[in-house]
Amino acid sequence: MQCDVFLVGTGQTRFGELFDRSTRDVMEEAIGNAIENSGLTSLDIDMVVVANMLAEQTNNQAHLGSLASQMLPHHPPALRVEAACGSGAVALHTATALLESKRAETVLVVGVEKMTDASTEDVSTALMGAADSELDQPSGLTFPGIFGLIAQRYMHEYGLTREQLSLVSALHHRNGMRNPFAQFRIEVTPEAVSQSSPVADPLRLLDCSPISDGAAACILSTLHRSPLRLAASQIATDTLSIAQRATLTSFSASKEAMERALREAEIDRDEIKALETHDCFSIAALINLEDLGFAEPGEGIRLYEALYKGRATSLMINRSGGLKACGHPVAATGVKQLCDIGKQLISEKKQWGIAHNFGGACASCGIHLLENLDA
Ligand code: COA
Repeated sequence: MQCDVFLVGTGQTRFGELFDRSTRDVMEEAIGNAIENSGLTSLDIDMVVVANMLAEQTNNQAHLGSLASQMLPHHPPALRVEAACGSGAVALHTATALLESKRAETVLVVGVEKMTDASTEDVSTALMGAADSELDQPSGLTFPGIFGLIAQRYMHEYGLTREQLSLVSALHHRNGMRNPFAQFRIEVTPEAVSQSSPVADPLRLLDCSPISDGAAACILSTLHRSPLRLAASQIATDTLSIAQRATLTSFSASKEAMERALREAEIDRDEIKALETHDCFSIAALINLEDLGFAEPGEGIRLYEALYKGRATSLMINRSGGLKACGHPVAATGVKQLCDIGKQLISEKKQWGIAHNFGGACASCGIHLLENLDA
């Protein structure tokens, strides 16, 4: 980092089916909560960065920078960032760059998505905009289909069983029960995951993150301090099409962003104790642990087995409930993950945590590494 950047405030709405709330409503709530949490006033915010993927398709609403800025009395400069489901992390990275370049001293980042007003068919089509329109979309694949192929290949290469995979969502649902902002606060057994409706073989309903509404906001500052220091902000990309990848069972953008984040923060991976990773589908959660270097290829399930069975491991993985239990209002997710890591580091008195957020089949990836200076 070129200078010290602090996470001074966080806020979010509950994620879920918020039929009675508009895009404007959920943004207003998340922004209000973040400002209140920061102890600053609206006037302290120099710039606004909005993360959003789908508002034109699902709500006929573009120009979200202006919409967010008008919620603050002095209408600060604002812009919108889009990187599919990774929009949140890329918006945080944009805010960091604005702070490092000294264009601004305090930046509000708000991620927002209102998806449930559209049908599942329309949302699935819109989400496929995150895949290659020439190489992936003509196949008729949806994102559950893409991750179904990835899961097939992973099972073939590493011998993962359907029963083992079910532990991933079961753990995320168990974690989500403690999160008041989560879409699903219900215990789900591994058997229930294995027996839920087939979606894209071998993935079942309870392997999939849901379609969700919600907003989350973070305030980053170089002027105002807090115990939470942003130690690294990195983004990386891969080919848009999965057809052009050397492997389906590992995402190079995650690896690259992680290596660069560790170098930027000048720490070892082992020092990181809290992870929020992008579990858009259960199989992704395993691949993420391996790509981020917390498990060998094919071994990610071991950590889930240990955590589900209550065996001690020093790592906290998707304590919030992850995308599976919290819900996945796509562009809000990356911002919400940083809110969660901040809360976890403070409440568990841990020093280092990462938020790992990606778009599409990890064609873009963002990693934010947070340090709790009080730990
Ligand atoms: N997990 C748990 N429960 C879910 C769920 C999920 N992912 N999706 C839906 N449900 C529940 C609903 O709450 C509803 O419960 P109810 O009957 O008690 O109200 C029930 O299942 C049926 O919901 P419905 O909306 O009809 O489901 P659907 O078949 O239209 O959609 C999926 C299910 C899996 C296809 C949809 O959630 C999906 O596409 N998810 C992936 C989204 C995605 O690709 N995101 C981008 C990632 S890269």
